[in-house]
Amino acid sequence: MAARCTIGNPRAEVIAGMTTGADVLIPSSDIQEKVREIGARISEDYRGKKPLFVGVLRGAVVVLADLMRNVDLECEIDFMEVSSYGQGRTSSGVVRILKDLEEDITNRHVLIVEDIIDTGLTLSYLHDLLLTRKPASLEICALLSKPSRRQVAIEVKYVRFEVPDVFVVGYGIDYAGAHRNLPDILALELEAAN
Ligand code: PRP
Repeated sequence: MAARCTIGNPRAEVIAGMTTGADVLIPSSDIQEKVREIGARISEDYRGKKPLFVGVLRGAVVVLADLMRNVDLECEIDFMEVSSYGQGRTSSGVVRILKDLEEDITNRHVLIVEDIIDTGLTLSYLHDLLLTRKPASLEICALLSKPSRRQVAIEVKYVRFEVPDVFVVGYGIDYAGAHRNLPDILALELEAAN
């Protein structure tokens, strides 16, 4: 039985709801297997190169940390922080850069690593922005994708799981700042959507 909670309610209530159980959408073992697969693919695709993995804070921290340890290559990491969501559960369409890259990506092989693509607005904006900096190549890796929610077309070279339009938490993905540390990805049942 999935836990029930109401959007906008205090975080404590959400956490209390979670402790009574939510649906496990993707167990940790499946995630780890897929991360190993994608790491092997990236190792082949970037052989002889030194890619720069760009994690999009904060959600991508967990997948980036696991992914880089499954890549048999010399590689570097950097981070951007953006804010795409308003107070509700959907993208506002406005992407704010809260933290930019430290590295100059000119002529670098850049792989953007995301936890989840929903509307695609965040990645579309980031992709176009980074392209203006003239990288040698620019690709996207995302752990989760919700194709039914897409508002803009976006090419994702490495996508691991396509999920339905449910609210997910865990493995880096939060609800009201919580649950990023869960090893599984859970579907959180929400009583009211805004
Ligand atoms: C999530 C996710 C993506 C974005 C995807 O980040 O990590 O960056 O939303 O949504 P979109 O495809 O509709 O643009 P969020 O803004 O929740 O921040 P977080 O990574 O800090 O949790």
